Amino acid sequence: MKRDFLHVDDLSTEEIWQVLELARDVKARFQRREDYRPFRNHSLAMIFNKQSARTRVSFETGFYRLGGHAIYLTPQDIEIGKREAVKDIARVVSRYNDLIMARLFDHAHIEELAAYATVPVINALTDYNHPCQIMADIFTIREKRGNLDDLKIVYVGDGNNIVHSWLRLAARLPFHFVCACPERYTPEEATVALAREAGLSTIAIDHDPMHAVRDADVVYTDVWASMGQKHELEERRPHFANFQVNEALMAAAGPSAVFMHCLPAQRDIEVTDAVMESPASIVFDQAENRMHVQNAIMLFLAGKC
Ligand code: CP
Ligand code: NVA
Repeated sequence: MKRDFLHVDDLSTEEIWQVLELARDVKARFQRREDYRPFRNHSLAMIFNKQSARTRVSFETGFYRLGGHAIYLTPQDIEIGKREAVKDIARVVSRYNDLIMARLFDHAHIEELAAYATVPVINALTDYNHPCQIMADIFTIREKRGNLDDLKIVYVGDGNNIVHSWLRLAARLPFHFVCACPERYTPEEATVALAREAGLSTIAIDHDPMHAVRDADVVYTDVWASMGQKHELEERRPHFANFQVNEALMAAAGPSAVFMHCLPAQRDIEVTDAVMESPASIVFDQAENRMHVQNAIMLFLAGKC
């Protein structure tokens, strides 16, 4: 049975730890510029319906460095769900490639893609979630902190695809997760319930960021309007007025809190330039780790570990 990676909890707890360990190993090999090419004679199809910097470059570079060939398909090449049926594209692209990754709008489309593809499918972000991001984030936190014991992550902002991924990780690994968001922009209830029902992590939804960030190990934010919602930014801004991550909010979190952002950031909107540039900010290590963790995910799915 082929495996897909559409949600972080498609992996068991044990498998998540296995991928995190593997990522550490592939990162060390990468840094040594070791000749390590498990994907020689392999190809990866990368289907993008949305823009990307980190995801495109990290997957393409990562797969190349592991010996394979990655094919970047723009929204003009495959506009999933428009030019032809998703189930047709799934089977066609599977005939040419060993792995497929896709960044799509509609989460149902990636589920259909995976159901019909005969090779592993990786979710590179949908409107619903972004599992590769959250695996890189937890890897980065562990790398910085040495462990994940009694970890408090406070996400401040829109209850979006990043939050859904944190919640689904909270169903596999134990931590304290607080989502501080405006009342109109809470995460999906079913996903909050999934995280709570797993009984591993504490989950809180708060509307007071200053209160939420107290004793945080990590203060995390993301844009207030995601891809597909950019036209809503001006309408959304007043609701998020108290949710900017600025120096006052970081001071309320305390001196040991680090700042994370999946990027791209809109400086001086959801986060100030000063916080982005502060010593607490680990956003570029976080971005780098996308590549190492995704390499580990691809090796795991391809059965090469
Ligand atoms: N964080 C992230 O996925 O960035 P891109 O949208 O640039 O790929
Ligand atoms: N929530 C953002 C994440 C970008 C990586 C978006 O979907 O646009």
